[in-house]
Amino acid sequence: MEKYRFPDGFFWGGATSAHQVEGGNINDWSEWEKENAERLAQESEKKFGYLPNWNDIKAEAQYLQNYISGKACDHYNLYEEDFNIAKSLGHNAHRFSIEWSKIEPEEGKWNEKEIEHYRKVIIALRARGMEPFVTLWHWPLPLWLRDKGGVKNKKFPGYFSRYAERMAREFPDIKFWITLNEPTAVIVMSYAKGDWPPQERNPFAAMKVYKKLAQAHNEAYRKIHLASHDASVGFVNILSYIEPNSKKSLLDRFIARIAEYFSNEKFLNLTKSNHDFLAVDYYFHSRLQFPGKVKNENQKISDMGWELYPEGIYYVLKDLKKYGKPIYITENGLADAKDKHREWYIKECLKNTHKAIQDGVDVRGYFYWSLLDNFEWDKGFWPRFGLVEVNYNTQERKIRESAKEYAKICKSNELII
Ligand code: FCB
Repeated sequence: MEKYRFPDGFFWGGATSAHQVEGGNINDWSEWEKENAERLAQESEKKFGYLPNWNDIKAEAQYLQNYISGKACDHYNLYEEDFNIAKSLGHNAHRFSIEWSKIEPEEGKWNEKEIEHYRKVIIALRARGMEPFVTLWHWPLPLWLRDKGGVKNKKFPGYFSRYAERMAREFPDIKFWITLNEPTAVIVMSYAKGDWPPQERNPFAAMKVYKKLAQAHNEAYRKIHLASHDASVGFVNILSYIEPNSKKSLLDRFIARIAEYFSNEKFLNLTKSNHDFLAVDYYFHSRLQFPGKVKNENQKISDMGWELYPEGIYYVLKDLKKYGKPIYITENGLADAKDKHREWYIKECLKNTHKAIQDGVDVRGYFYWSLLDNFEWDKGFWPRFGLVEVNYNTQERKIRESAKEYAKICKSNELII
């Protein structure tokens, strides 16, 4: 039996995002869902029919309502109950997002009632001894901004930083602000592959969005600091562990390096000194063979077919050491309806995180994705990421066994395997 002790004051928690759990949102995603649900249901077999668990998921994946976020987990109304669960699981921190479309439903008009809602959310977390990590943009846009071209609008950095500043003034006791969630995921999924709204498949748009999002972060960083002196500000970077299929092949190494640059480094460079901490989401590993073929071994996969490769988090964290900033793992998790791999995956990822800490990497917190089962974007509700299972008909919550194992780690600040 090995013991892995984490640094004192380590933050342990779960993460969520407004659109995926709250319900009742009207934004670019909710409108897109209505227009695309039928198509997504029809295409599901083509996309997921190859998965070994297709028979388990097909009823949900082929069902139109699966693709409509609707009431989601009704977390908007049930947040106190959900935070009670998180507290009972030993969480001392929680990551959530503020829904921009609720706060600023019309350009420049702030909805005081919704601001009050998030004030209550923050109070509820603090009352339970959980440090709030607040994300300002976890992807959906207010409709007025969608109609102006969204992220591509040249004024996007101004709109976003105005909202960010307003939030920082409203909630001066928030210490940890996350401006943008995974900008590179949006660049790829919305503007390069074109699967997500606004479904552009255009490399020029992708490059433009790269720039606009970096500017938005930089301006928000500055304005949050003006509004709130003690704030710590960063953005969440989704970092993949990318390696050449053959270390001996110059071409494999070349293609891995290019992928690594665009996926992991470019956004950090564009936002250089504007981070007080680095926030990392870790899900993916790619072993690349020139000109770009993925050669992962896939010994274990999640319900969505994503390879489970816990070793990768060590390399990703090690790579961040050179920046000399505190690091928070703001998402790490898997879709696993039967809770088959979750305990193993969390523990292995934490073992590898501990190894990075031993090597001098300043990791200060870990947030499992997600506290609750939730609405997984264009896949809908069938992927089950939660520590807590959600019955979408009754809104009942049920704590998964793996969550109890994770709770032992959170409560003792120690992993024993
Ligand atoms: C991340 C997103 C999060 C969730 C997980 C599975 O990329 O930030 O909202 O969808 O993936």
